This record gives sequence, C-alpha cells and structure tokens, in this order.
Amino acid sequence: MTMQTLANILTSPAACALNTVDREILAAHVLQKSRSWVIAHEDYTLSDVEQQSLISAFSRRADHVPVAYITNHKSFYDLDFYVDENVLVPRPESEMIVDHVTTDIQQNKDKNHAVIDVGTGSGCLILSVTHTLHHLSNITYSAVDISDGALQVAQKNKKILLPQTHIAFYKSDLLRDTNLSDYIKKILSKTGQLTLIANLPYVDETWEADLLKQQDSIALKHEPHIALYAPKQGLFFYQQLLSQLVALCRDSHADHVIKLYLEINDHQKDSLTQIIKDHFPHASVEAHKDLANHHRLIIAKL
Ligand SMILES: C[S@@+](CC[C@H](N)C(=O)[O-])C[C@H]1O[C@@H](n2cnc3c(N)ncnc32)[C@H](O)[C@@H]1O
Repeated sequence: MTMQTLANILTSPAACALNTVDREILAAHVLQKSRSWVIAHEDYTLSDVEQQSLISAFSRRADHVPVAYITNHKSFYDLDFYVDENVLVPRPESEMIVDHVTTDIQQNKDKNHAVIDVGTGSGCLILSVTHTLHHLSNITYSAVDISDGALQVAQKNKKILLPQTHIAFYKSDLLRDTNLSDYIKKILSKTGQLTLIANLPYVDETWEADLLKQQDSIALKHEPHIALYAPKQGLFFYQQLLSQLVALCRDSHADHVIKLYLEINDHQKDSLTQIIKDHFPHASVEAHKDLANHHRLIIAKL
C-alpha cells in the first residue's frame, strides 16, 4: 500500500459517500485522537494498518452502519456509553425521560423510591437516572431486558460508569421473571413510590419494510429487530406491561404511588392513554412533546 496522508484518505473514493463530520469522527476513532487533532493534522502520514482500518470504517459507514457501532461509543445525558450491535443506539429524544424522572424524584425525595428500567438496552436510561440522583440514598435501581446481549452491554456500562452503585439486573420478559415480580410485590406492599421507565419497542412491525426503503431510516437495518418493532400498532409490549402490573398491584399498599414513564411516537398518544385507562381507570395521564414537537413521552400516575 502506498503511503497516504490523512487529507488523501479523507477525500478518497472510499470516503466520498460520507459527510465531513462522520469522516472526521471515524478518523479520530481509528487514530485514537480527538476530532480537532484530525482537523489540524491533515498532513499526517498513516501507517498501512491505520489506512486499512480507516477505509474499512468508511465502507461500513457507507453501508449505513451507525457511527456509534463503528466507534463503540455514544454520548447520552453527558455520559459516554459503550454500544454495539446488541443494543439500540441511544437517541437524544430519550433524554427527556431522564429529565422528568429525576425532577419528579427530587421533588419527592422524602419518599422511598424504587426505579425499574424495563427494556434497558445499553442501560442509558437507568444509568443516567442513577448518576443524576447519586446524592439521594433512599432509592433502589433495577434494570430488565429479555436479551442476553443487551444485558451484557448494560452491565459493562454500569461497571465502567458507576462502579460504586448497586443496580440489580434481571433477564425477564417484561416483569414476568419470578424474582423480579416478587421484588415488585414486596415494594408495593410498603409505602413509597415505584417508578417504571420503559422505552420498549414501539415501531409498528408492519412499517419495517417501508422504513428500510427510506434513506433517512435505512440505518435501522443494523439495529436489533427485538429493540425496535412490536405488533398491535407498536403497542403490544406496553399493553403486556400494563396487564402484568394489574396482576402485581392486587395486594399493593394503599399509599403506594406507581408512576410510569413510557416513550412513544407521535401518533400513539391517544391509543396508549386509552390502554392505560382500560387497565387502571383512575390513572392520571399526561403526554409530553420532544424538541421536534412530537408527542414522545407518556407519564401516568396509576
Ligand atoms: C427501544 S430499545 C430501548 C433501549 C434503551 N432503554 C434506550 O432507551 O436506548 C428496547 C429494549 O427492550 C428490550 N425488549 C424487547 N422486548 C422485551 C421484553 N419482552 N421484555 C424485556 N425487554 C424487552 C430490547 O431487547 C431492547 O433492549
């Protein structure tokens, strides 16, 4: 291979399908430097290995592999998460769940709290909540996923980012695991607040073929199917979660507050509100919009 400068590689045919930001991020990743270093050192001569790694990174990106899977990093709520093909790449719009949950708990900090993240993936939600509330001692944290690969990633992130904090991890189909449901029943038999955070798969499974044809959503083909799609207009998992909760609440303490924070897409607001009311007729339900003015979050007090 002939010696090449960074400038040559960044403008080579392998890079031409990519935008400048992606080229620079991938070069910074391969060379283990910062993006500003890459911008300032276009005359740097790459070794053969660096050259090959960079061209391979460019060609994966040209096949729409998310940058986060190539670099194995994604920033979320100011923390740097390890990510790979076992987990959904954390989305900026999911940060609003963390904002709402942490504000709510801080306003009710005299209560005992149990926070459970259902469908934890990379662990971005539970770890961000735990990190933000580290100064409060009366909170227990748990995270659940059905995927072994996702649980491994979440546990790795916990070890790197919050080594001193306890988070209980459960492999479970929603709340079905016996240890988890026993734990929830125990919490509900006392006073306090149970907070369930869930960004479960909510893309209507009948949309998959169309989404993968569109340029702005084609990258979804690289993310785990189990993290994205759901039957019943995308609401199957939320419906199941609510049915499981009804069963778990039978012996709950009258003073126990249960709050749900559920991520949705814009047109699911009314149908999910109805599903919540069908299961918990006295629930109060609010919908919140994201920065793009789309309904993104349902908060329900059961
Ligand atoms: C949309 S991803 C969300 C990941 C992460 N919470 C986030 O916000 O980036 C949904 C997660 O739910 C998990 N999941 C799917 N079906 C599940 C089920 N029946 N029980 C538990 N977890 C499930 C998937 O493995 C995936 O990690």
